[in-house]
Amino acid sequence: MEGGWPARGGVLLCLTVSLLLQGRGDAFTINCSGFDQHGVDPAAFQAVFDRKAFRPFTNYSIPTRVNISFTLSAILGVDAQLQLLTSFLWIDLVWDNPFINWNPKECVGINKLTVLAENLWLPDIFIVESMDVDQTPSGLTAYISSEGRIKYDKPMRVTSICNLDIFYFPFDQQNCTFTFSSFLYTVDGMLLGMDKEVWEITDTSRNVIRTQGEWELLGINKATPKMSVGNNLYDQITFYVAIRRRPSLYIINLLVPSSFLVAIDALSFYLPAESENRAPFKITLLLGYNVFLLMMNDLLPASGTPLISVYFALCLSLMVVSLLETVFITHLLHVATTQPPPMPRWLHSLLLHCTGPGRCCPTAPHKGNKGLGLTPTHLPGPNEPGELAGKEVRPGETELDGGSGWTKAQLVELWVQFSHVMDTLLFRLYLLFMASSILTVIVLWNT
Ligand SMILES: *[C@@H]1O[C@H](CO)[C@@H](O)[C@H](O)[C@H]1NC(C)=O
Ligand SMILES: *[C@@H]1O[C@H](CO)[C@@H](O)[C@H](O)[C@H]1NC(C)=O
Ligand SMILES: *[C@@H]1O[C@H](CO)[C@@H](O)[C@H](O)[C@H]1NC(C)=O
Ligand SMILES: *[C@@H]1O[C@H](CO)[C@@H](O)[C@H](O)[C@H]1NC(C)=O
Repeated sequence: MEGGWPARGGVLLCLTVSLLLQGRGDAFTINCSGFDQHGVDPAAFQAVFDRKAFRPFTNYSIPTRVNISFTLSAILGVDAQLQLLTSFLWIDLVWDNPFINWNPKECVGINKLTVLAENLWLPDIFIVESMDVDQTPSGLTAYISSEGRIKYDKPMRVTSICNLDIFYFPFDQQNCTFTFSSFLYTVDGMLLGMDKEVWEITDTSRNVIRTQGEWELLGINKATPKMSVGNNLYDQITFYVAIRRRPSLYIINLLVPSSFLVAIDALSFYLPAESENRAPFKITLLLGYNVFLLMMNDLLPASGTPLISVYFALCLSLMVVSLLETVFITHLLHVATTQPPPMPRWLHSLLLHCTGPGRCCPTAPHKGNKGLGLTPTHLPGPNEPGELAGKEVRPGETELDGGSGWTKAQLVELWVQFSHVMDTLLFRLYLLFMASSILTVIVLWNT
């Protein structure tokens, strides 16, 4: 299959001559006479160049060993929708060509030379995850050393497929893979090895990486699984590249503004419930939040449901709920001041219980409370515990009304007070829900 031997034909003569003249035991030693005056003589390498179509071996059963390393020089972007990572790699390949060999002493001290890579046989190493055509620039050169070791470096823009998980956006880490493998050669023809240790690759990549953009390199790991396709076994090296998003852009543009809006929304409960502008204020906030979401939509990943979307939905629902609460309290106050319905007995006692001096709950900053200079304990009413216990207290039936000795003004005051207690209670529920859900989101982000 690899016709290195039969193809030698005419070259053999030349090599034999050079062997005879040089007196060294190597059939492939390059004659570098005249390098000192005329530079490198292309004819001296012609025998090597002529063989570039074939894998360089002297024994077919010995696979060519290609050592690989790379430097990650930039992380250009991550596309969550297409699940692609775009990066820039410098790939280093090292292998031995047994047909290249010279004695540096005879060759004016030359240890290594650069040769245009297209004149040499190159291993067909590719990246399995790459979803792009190979965009290696043409006209690259390779170093060849006097022992026949070839070092070929190429820059490469790699668009590779990567399983991205954006749930924790913008605090996410991704673990992408670069799997180097030969396209054609099985383990009989080519073996892969490491040219550098992984920590060296990580260190140089960290030092070299140009982009101070969104992604930060965390570390590189490797594994060397063999891949079998049918009966063929291919050697491959897998590098796991862990990268982390720098979240500051998203914290400043997404999290901080939305937290502020929610905080203002919570504080707007301190606007007096009787004032006309609590509801318009909340509606304005809600509108502002929607505009904010529309504008910041571009910053969110285009696919999947990250936790931050859940957080935004949560903030929005908190605002809607608080608006609903305001509507409810406004309605209650309206009913209370225009047509106060009779107050059920149980509600009255509950109210008394709540507003009792030992209680903390309803003394929130409602100016309505001042109207109740006479606290509900001073109100006349058949509220002896014995009587309450004796009667079957059913909400719909048992009522206190004007008939039971209350003036309309007192009833209005009672209802207003009830509205304020409700307002405070709902505000606390709101705060509790807000705190617990935001804590949950933060805990989830931290795991
Ligand atoms: C190298 O080649 C030159 C001609 O190009 C020849 O004159 C010389 O004898 C050769 N030397 C060796 C050591 O083969
Ligand atoms: C080629 O290599 C194999 C395995 O190393 C060895 O058994 C065989 O003798 C070698 N053949 C020659 C011609 O050197
Ligand atoms: C590849 O690496 C192995 C082990 O590190 C080493 O023994 C071998 O000489 C290297 N081969 C080449 C061509 O660099
Ligand atoms: C990436 O994933 C691989 C395989 O799942 C694992 O072995 C490796 O430790 C992971 N790397 C990091 C940094 O999480």
